Amino acid sequence: MTVSLDDLPLRDDLRGLRPYGAPQAPLPVALNVNENTHPVPEQVASDILDEVAVALRDVNRYPDREFTELRTAFAEYLGHDLQAANIWAGNGSNEVLQHILQAFAGPGRTVFGFAPTYSMYPLLAQGTGATWIAGTRHPDYEITVEEAVAQVRQHDPDVILLCAPNNPTGTPLPLEVIEAVYDAARGIVIVDEAYQEFAPKDSPSALTLLDGRPRLAVSRTMSKAFAFAGARVGYLAADPAFIDALRLVRLPYHLSALTQAAALAALRNAPMMLAMVDEIVAQRDRITATLEALGYTPHRSWSNFVLFGGVADPAATWRALYDKGVLIRDVGIPNHLRVTAGTEAETTAFLDALASIGSPS
Ligand SMILES: Cc1ncc(COP(=O)(O)O)c(C=O)c1O
Repeated sequence: MTVSLDDLPLRDDLRGLRPYGAPQAPLPVALNVNENTHPVPEQVASDILDEVAVALRDVNRYPDREFTELRTAFAEYLGHDLQAANIWAGNGSNEVLQHILQAFAGPGRTVFGFAPTYSMYPLLAQGTGATWIAGTRHPDYEITVEEAVAQVRQHDPDVILLCAPNNPTGTPLPLEVIEAVYDAARGIVIVDEAYQEFAPKDSPSALTLLDGRPRLAVSRTMSKAFAFAGARVGYLAADPAFIDALRLVRLPYHLSALTQAAALAALRNAPMMLAMVDEIVAQRDRITATLEALGYTPHRSWSNFVLFGGVADPAATWRALYDKGVLIRDVGIPNHLRVTAGTEAETTAFLDALASIGSPS
């Protein structure tokens, strides 16, 4: 007898949900999950290997549960007078966000975000038993202070997730909106800066708002600019009391000794790990310009990807690109597709393949 999910005594609130499932197809040009497609530089890889080799000798023991050395390194990397006590980390920023929702959301509580936004937010909220509330944006995906405040007042959520720049649209979020949302909210406000390193160099981070705002947290990841997605390392900065809340829900020793060692070595080499950011931004801007020339409507992006409209049949275009060895993302927005900025060669492969499919109607 074949057993299906419906036969199991699953939680009622999980019935009918679909897991996160970006396709993982072995295509030569994979531009679908906003990774940094440049490999870790050889010199840094060797430094990481050395550090991991040392950690391996003690792997019979549990790792430092407080990952103090790593928290100190993240504080130094972020600047803004942050100390180790302000820092938390997890296996990817997804886990960091999950810790926040486990501590501050949960059954009977609500989690709010301006949709369309990162597809994991509803799943993370529902996973803790909380209810996801989707707010709205303008057709160009921007949000004004007045509209943001009105929606927050209307829904009065326990937790607000602000993705800045926003995935899947690339839209920046002005600090004034974040400040106003914080003032209007009674609950936790998380600014997810997974793509912050790709924003213009002079654009201020929400880290500048942390002082005096104990309900605010700013999360980051090493998966994007740092080219470290496979290592699974995300982190956040917040008030030390906020970090204490996360200690209540984390599993003991959640960051393995090997992860801590690898992340420390990568952080020590931050300038080299981040060397490709300018090149990726150049490819992103080239994608935007070329899409425009081809007759599509790319949206303003401060991240390492571009969402573009004007696609008559996204599923058909996605499939035609797939058949040419190029994997991009259909994020479910009508007439839109999303593409990650790759290396120059990968970006050329995408643009050539798209041009060969023919112009949008
Ligand atoms: C906005 C945003 N936040 C968080 C993440 C999670 O990244 P990770 O768990 O790899 O740190 C992603 C990944 O695509 C993302 O787009």
